[in-house]
Amino acid sequence: MSEQTLENLLKEDRTFPPPPEFAAHANGTAELYAQADADFEGCWAEQARTYVTWSKDFTQVLDWNPPFATWFADGELNACWNALDKHVEAGNGDRVAIHFIGEPEGDTKDYTYSELHDQVQRAANALSALGVGTGDTVAIYLPMIPEAVIAMLACARLGAPHSVVFGGFSSEALRTRIDDASAKVVITADGGYRRGKPSSLKPAVDAALVHGDDVTSVTNVLVVRRTGQDTAWTDGRDLWWHEALAAAEPTHEAVPVGAEHPLFILYTSGTTGKPKGILHTTGGFLTQCAYTSSVVHDVHPESDVYWCTADIGWVTGHSYIVYGPMTLGATQVIYEGTPDTPHQGRFWEIVQDYGVTILYTAPTAIRTFMKWGEEIPAKFDMSSLRLLGSVGEPINPEAWMWYRRVIGGDRCPVVDTWWQTETGAIMISPLPGVSAAVPGSAMRAIPGIVADVLDEAGDPVPDGGGGYLVITKPWPAMLRTVYGDDQRYKDTYWGRYDGVYFAGDGAKKDVDGDIWVLGRVDDVMNISGHRLSTTEIESALVSHPKVAEAAVVGAADVTTGQAVCAFVILRSEAVEEADDVGEGAELVQELRTHVAREIGPIAKPRQIMIVEELPKTRSGKIMRRLLRDVAENREVGDVTTLADSSVMDLIKAGLGGTGSS
Ligand code: PRX
Repeated sequence: MSEQTLENLLKEDRTFPPPPEFAAHANGTAELYAQADADFEGCWAEQARTYVTWSKDFTQVLDWNPPFATWFADGELNACWNALDKHVEAGNGDRVAIHFIGEPEGDTKDYTYSELHDQVQRAANALSALGVGTGDTVAIYLPMIPEAVIAMLACARLGAPHSVVFGGFSSEALRTRIDDASAKVVITADGGYRRGKPSSLKPAVDAALVHGDDVTSVTNVLVVRRTGQDTAWTDGRDLWWHEALAAAEPTHEAVPVGAEHPLFILYTSGTTGKPKGILHTTGGFLTQCAYTSSVVHDVHPESDVYWCTADIGWVTGHSYIVYGPMTLGATQVIYEGTPDTPHQGRFWEIVQDYGVTILYTAPTAIRTFMKWGEEIPAKFDMSSLRLLGSVGEPINPEAWMWYRRVIGGDRCPVVDTWWQTETGAIMISPLPGVSAAVPGSAMRAIPGIVADVLDEAGDPVPDGGGGYLVITKPWPAMLRTVYGDDQRYKDTYWGRYDGVYFAGDGAKKDVDGDIWVLGRVDDVMNISGHRLSTTEIESALVSHPKVAEAAVVGAADVTTGQAVCAFVILRSEAVEEADDVGEGAELVQELRTHVAREIGPIAKPRQIMIVEELPKTRSGKIMRRLLRDVAENREVGDVTTLADSSVMDLIKAGLGGTGSS
């Protein structure tokens, strides 16, 4: 992070205090800050007992052996019971849990808490009939349909950790995740609807499971029938979800598990090619998700209609579709498709038709809506909205202002929430009934979280300074380890400063001490709010027979935040072919498709530049900073540490001809 980046941040004078009527009914209050400061563990114990029901109460709050923590360790609970049975038993079984909206128009279905409860009990019995028991991992590879929620909760009911793999990932990506977690069963669908047409999913599972002579840990595949398209079938292994559920016993007792029992594994990109299995456990995770759904999203379950637009395949879907809102008993919208199908007002039509009161979405979506124009949302009545949230990447002050004005009618507080797959739940955010929000700033750590910005030496930077964003005390929803790799957990997150968590973001404290998250300082990119590692894409490129070497950088992009830009050196046989400009362009397309096949369409480079050399230091490390300069059309920075300083001239000269897509 350069000094210049830090100084470029303007002083932002606009502030938006909460409207008094909002503050009067807000769940999150100013006293919470004081309470958490005065008694850190006591405050969390209180949240754990307020928001979560324990089948056995805990006596111990935190045990901290850096970097390993346990929270509420001798308590017992079941996450699914908290999300469903609790509400049914309290007499709220008839409340709508999910308003499902499929992408095809008119394809909608509501599920009450009782109906979900019925389905989840059957699904738990169906899984257990396939031999899934407490501690067995189940992979879930589904579109955004209610069965994704049902499948996750059925796993939680059994104490079987789920590993949800984003439906946009390729069979290769699915395969590595299945192998790493030794998943026993995969839950998938024939397909889903995306951009106006059915797209298949099951073939990717088939390809993942039949992989040369490798033996898979998977014994069965449960297939939801969503699109009705023709689906290849492996007898004995594959079963239809609806048949399995119909055949299953209707009732199932939720299995109480210890607070530290694994709830799920979710893979995320790090700085090396191999994705990390982030392990979350039950009690602390559920506590912080429900607490933040209440104090940050201000969910009032009896009156709100909440909508988080994330996919279930990312952590936001885990924490803020399934575990947070459902533990509170909220009513929510789940939408399967894209925001422009069949028209660019689809989101706003949903807000209007369902009376959505709380909307949680990503800056990349907000920038896209800005591009489409404010006359589109203006056609709909969005007066039901009362709170707006943002997550996934830094939100530019202008996008924040647009969101507040055009979507929120200048009346709704906006919460910019900073957190990560690893943190499990929101860490830094305004409290909407307390904080005077500043456009573009995530503001301060929420009550119970202690964050800071440190310099290289590990000292806190003064207000106005920039450095590394860290968390200095453990927190309930923190990752417990990288699945199967404690050493990687220690090195990655706790290696830079002793006993302090650092996971890759740079930040600035403004003159008031508010935090501005500046984005990643490591080799991780953030494309439309999704994390991808440069190494992962480089490995995908190098796996193509024509590629000798590749370097990938994230370059600024107005819509997606960052875009993937790749620099590729071809193998000598391929160079001759590519010399002809026409063939070079074809090759670029071929490589882009190759990356999409290896990782998934989100990883497809926006640009591939074929070059003869890459800029390297004397020790052989690629200087991505220089490549970023090229990708962002900037004057190339200091080249004095390059082994061969003429390389950059060569790259720039070469880009006139072959290459960019
Ligand atoms: O760089 C930060 C960015 O997203 C990263 C975490 O990505 P992931 O684990 O996929 O989780 C995304 C959803 C929580 C962070 O390291 N990020 C997330 N939220 C914000 C953000 N950057 C700035 N402001 C945010 N509100």
